[in-house]
Amino acid sequence: MFSVIWIILLSFKLSNALDNGLAKTPPMGWLSWERFRCNTDCVNDPDNCISEQLFQTMTDIVVADGYASVGYEYINIDDCWLEKHRSHDGKLVADRKRFPSGMKALSDYVHSRGLKFGIYEDYGNYTCAGYPGIIGYEEKDALLFAEWNVDYVKLDGCYALPYDMDQGYSNFGRLLNSTGKSMVYSCSWPVYQIYAGIQPNYSAIQSHCNLWRNYDDIQDSWASVENIIDYYGNNQDLIAPNAGPGHWNDPDMLIIGNFGLSYEQAKTQFAIWSILAAPLLMSVDLRTIRPQFKHILQNRKIIAVDQDPLGIQGRRIYKHKGIEIWSRPISPLYQNFYSYAIAFVNRRTDGTPSDISVTLKELGLINFTGYRVEDLYENVDYGVLYPNTKIKVKVNPSGVVMLKGEVQFPADL
Ligand code: GLA
Repeated sequence: MFSVIWIILLSFKLSNALDNGLAKTPPMGWLSWERFRCNTDCVNDPDNCISEQLFQTMTDIVVADGYASVGYEYINIDDCWLEKHRSHDGKLVADRKRFPSGMKALSDYVHSRGLKFGIYEDYGNYTCAGYPGIIGYEEKDALLFAEWNVDYVKLDGCYALPYDMDQGYSNFGRLLNSTGKSMVYSCSWPVYQIYAGIQPNYSAIQSHCNLWRNYDDIQDSWASVENIIDYYGNNQDLIAPNAGPGHWNDPDMLIIGNFGLSYEQAKTQFAIWSILAAPLLMSVDLRTIRPQFKHILQNRKIIAVDQDPLGIQGRRIYKHKGIEIWSRPISPLYQNFYSYAIAFVNRRTDGTPSDISVTLKELGLINFTGYRVEDLYENVDYGVLYPNTKIKVKVNPSGVVMLKGEVQFPADL
């Protein structure tokens, strides 16, 4: 009798949870929102409006300029792709002027270049910009996305009731799953609940969503990046444990290469996002990005930290007088000893670099067989260092030094 009940419970659990096998490492790609917003004026601004041409162009550049070869694979549409009204049979319709070939054709285009295709919708009555939301049409919309061969769905939460989200987001995840087409499911479920004063049920969220937003929209400024960094540091005990292969916290898009961040600040965003095991979704005009920013976005060593297969989100381990140290356990492991990525961040604004001196032991690197330490931006190899070794780094104002300490195996192994 008991085993029958267990089987029933187990199968309920299995069909109830997402487990779509996707996003085993944080998704990487390009997303239109932060840089291109809701520009629908293709008459006066044809090169920058939300249109099939914009997404085709970004697809081409992601492939041609080396982004795809370092791991960026999703081309994601955000808000403002829709007609204001559904069709007579209740289907979502892409804006006829701006997407004249239709969404299936755009999806085919992205796939034909070897990339994956993402789309945006909203759990409520409207999207945040006022286009039709999915409420009342959930099953139809999930099937339409599958028909369009969508690989990634971002489901926003404007014009919806945060109390309904536990049920609504999990239900739509199930509907996506039951289409038979696997789609990464990006949720805004916790952030809207937090704003409404509700404590999100993170264990439910991580069993239904591949990634989720916890905090404010990123804006094109260092102040915005700093706010996000502080939020994830201040709330890490609650947030960090929810990340793991298949389910990630999303601190929002990378704004590297836009107008608001200096070179140092852009390096800091990339370093901290990789410590946070964040999705790496660029939102930048890839046609005009300056080479130094492209270089940051294509830093393979830092991408490897972000994409570490263990999927453990890092933490802020030190914060004092504008100096922060962030640390993330990564592979390889020797016995119970992890390797680590360490980011030293200088939040001070005095116009000269700050020195930080610390022993490996103080950073938690205590394995006596040592760690091979290298700088991930500067390509400096410090060789094998031991727990008592003191390292000294110089960190530029609003900048970062990022190191990796790879645990060493004893020579006889
Ligand atoms: C919300 C989301 C943003 C973006 C906009 C689109 O603000 O958090 O990421 O999708 O809506 O309207």
